[in-house]
Amino acid sequence: MSMQAQQGRIWEDRIKDMASKARQQVDEGAVTPYYKANRDEVIELLNRAISSEWIALMQYWHHYFMSTDIHSPEIKEAFKKFADQELEHIDEIGSRIQLLGGVPADKPEEITRLWPSPVDYGTNLRSMMHEDLIDERVTVEFYSEIIRYCGNDDPTTRFIFEHILAEEEEHANTWADILFQSDASTNERISSVHEDAMSHVGGGKQARAA
Ligand SMILES: [Fe+2]
Ligand SMILES: [Fe+2]
Repeated sequence: MSMQAQQGRIWEDRIKDMASKARQQVDEGAVTPYYKANRDEVIELLNRAISSEWIALMQYWHHYFMSTDIHSPEIKEAFKKFADQELEHIDEIGSRIQLLGGVPADKPEEITRLWPSPVDYGTNLRSMMHEDLIDERVTVEFYSEIIRYCGNDDPTTRFIFEHILAEEEEHANTWADILFQSDASTNERISSVHEDAMSHVGGGKQARAA
């Protein structure tokens, strides 16, 4: 038998094996024995992530309603656009939780327990963007950890979060660009946004361990 024919036989056997396992374990849904991650832990991480999305959604809507500076309609529109994107993230993360056999967090007390980062709404345009930048930075750090955690054990979840992370980085960049640009134009000193962000996540470790 040629080398190619031998290789073909190996794949034939493997596919037959997969087919018989799929038949036996059909009640497991889409998750197969080849899923290597700790499913319960992934579901918990995803429920913490969806909680951060619900909170971001409410915060962006609040900032959208309360931003009344007629000279910055594009910022008001950005609050709305980002709120729409956070809702898409809720859709993606919630669907993944369901597919893994979990139930997406959607009760207020559950959401605040799962996402213990303090929530502070801004009271003027500048503080709104400042608070949004802090929250986006926390999210970027947390989602980067989820991507690292999933690695090759759960490539589908990793792929979903790589896409979401890119959008969260865009959100953070938008606020940083506007804040630092206005800082340069007015010569006004902005307190260190980075330090603020770090204090919100308790040094970067405690919030995730909670
Ligand atoms: Fe998001
Ligand atoms: Fe965001």
